[in-house]
Amino acid sequence: VTVSVLYCWRQKMLWLYVPLALVAVPVLASLVLVHRVPRLDVKGKVVLLTGGSAGIGLELAVALVAKGARVAIAARRRAVLEEAVAEIKKRSGVSDDNTISFVEMDVADPDSVAKGVDKVRFWAKADIDVCICNAGYSLPSRFLDIPQRHQTGMVDVNFHGCANVCRAVLPRMYERKAGRVVLVSSMAGTAPVAGFTVYGATKAAIRAFAQSLDMESAARGVRV
Ligand SMILES: NC(=O)c1ccc[n+]([C@@H]2O[C@H](COP(=O)([O-])OP(=O)(O)OC[C@H]3O[C@@H](n4cnc5c(N)ncnc54)[C@H](OP(=O)(O)O)[C@@H]3O)[C@@H](O)[C@H]2O)c1
Repeated sequence: VTVSVLYCWRQKMLWLYVPLALVAVPVLASLVLVHRVPRLDVKGKVVLLTGGSAGIGLELAVALVAKGARVAIAARRRAVLEEAVAEIKKRSGVSDDNTISFVEMDVADPDSVAKGVDKVRFWAKADIDVCICNAGYSLPSRFLDIPQRHQTGMVDVNFHGCANVCRAVLPRMYERKAGRVVLVSSMAGTAPVAGFTVYGATKAAIRAFAQSLDMESAARGVRV
């Protein structure tokens, strides 16, 4: 568009601006509309939030409950989940068990994910509207100092964990032609730094996975 505008200007063919605008405006507008991710309104929505018992997930849970969402936090350790639910209730001022709950889930284990997702639907008596895949971990260390089990572990939790949860929630979202999935990546995935070789790779993978999955899902009413 810019080249055409400059060319017409130089050639003093300003009348060409009219047909150019007639073509360019609808094309640009449709590109914006297709790629625009609509604003997420969580009021009254059922949210599954993995890794919601600590750190960023816990803060997100407090914010979501304060905005009127019904939130089920998921993580592996029951005692920590129970403490987190108590803290979320205290900080959000919402003490209703219908608004905040927890499920034990290991995102790296597809069976545990499937069971956890069923439990959330049973608790909510509704389908999951929003799924936030936040569970993840890093082990800042030089590559050769990362134990093999953590190399595999980071891929299993950070990447497969997101994919496992998406696999469990997406079919119902597609059926309903509604839903939102949020995958938590990291700057380490876009601006790699020393000490985050495997972690950065898992977060770059999540970004690519999310972009590709969004292209597949948008036409089915679900945004990623
Ligand atoms: N903190 C940062 O500076 C930062 C920066 C960029 C991106 N991130 C990303 O943001 C997300 C949250 O980070 P954070 O720092 O808040 O982490 P965090 O404080 O260590 O909390 C991690 C949460 O994930 C859960 N979790 C870990 N492994 C799990 C598994 N296999 N299955 C289910 N839940 C699991 C933990 O509970 P259990 O251990 O009980 O399972 C906990 O609730 C991660 O994906 C991280 O990569 C963090």
